[in-house]
Amino acid sequence: MTEITKTDLMYQGKAKEMFATTDPETVWVHYMDQVTAFNGKKKVQMKGKGETNCRISSIIFSDLAAHGIENHFIKQLDSNNQLVKRVKIIPLETVVRNMASGSFERKFAAEHLMKFEKPVTEFFYKSDELDDPFINDSQAEALGVATPAQMDFMKQTALKVNDRLKAIFADMNIDLVDFKVEFGVDGDGKVILADEISPDSCRLIDRDTKKSLDKDVFRKGLGELVPVYEEILTRLEKAEEA
Ligand code: TMP
Ligand code: ASP
Repeated sequence: MTEITKTDLMYQGKAKEMFATTDPETVWVHYMDQVTAFNGKKKVQMKGKGETNCRISSIIFSDLAAHGIENHFIKQLDSNNQLVKRVKIIPLETVVRNMASGSFERKFAAEHLMKFEKPVTEFFYKSDELDDPFINDSQAEALGVATPAQMDFMKQTALKVNDRLKAIFADMNIDLVDFKVEFGVDGDGKVILADEISPDSCRLIDRDTKKSLDKDVFRKGLGELVPVYEEILTRLEKAEEA
């Protein structure tokens, strides 16, 4: 394979930039040293954040592929750049919850970290202007955002991701409270797991200290974020070696 190089900036996200490449099937992802919350209303530059999330997401996507969960990840290029398969992102955030937290806790006045007997799945419509509203299957179908079959596949796949992530984090002495994933449609019309999986998109709690090891540290102003992400990476590398 001839070497792939990046060309035009295709999309500027809040944490990543996506570039086209010399291969039409491949996209170059640059992880930025930027963290945002509340749909971009809170935004800070943080040195080392891009590098840490790039590594964490690369390890997790490789692990998922090795466990039969197909995804867009091709390879990590250097500290904060990846190559991924080009897909058209479906504008739905698929959330899986094992315990009550965040918007679920607020919406239903549920007890913080109440354990669910079976995981909860939810969709949110990806739109910063609308503050990513909750959307159900029939609303998403009416808007032409996704088909019922695509949404079923996304929920089933997200639950498989949940099983694997729970196991990975358990080996790191961490409880997976909830997480968000995104899917895209590839050139053949197939839906595959895409975007990133990192402490930006998961809620993670240390089993001993009960402290948050994820973006809630930034959302709630609980302390410095990058050392927390580095702690996740250190534990993840150790768990993956074992
Ligand atoms: P929520 O409790 O705020 O609905 O969030 C559920 C999960 O989704 C949590 O792990 C954080 C993650 N998430 C994102 O990755 N991006 C977002 O824009 C939001 C709102 C949540
Ligand atoms: N992902 C959203 C943002 O970056 C919201 C959040 O994670 O709280 O603004």
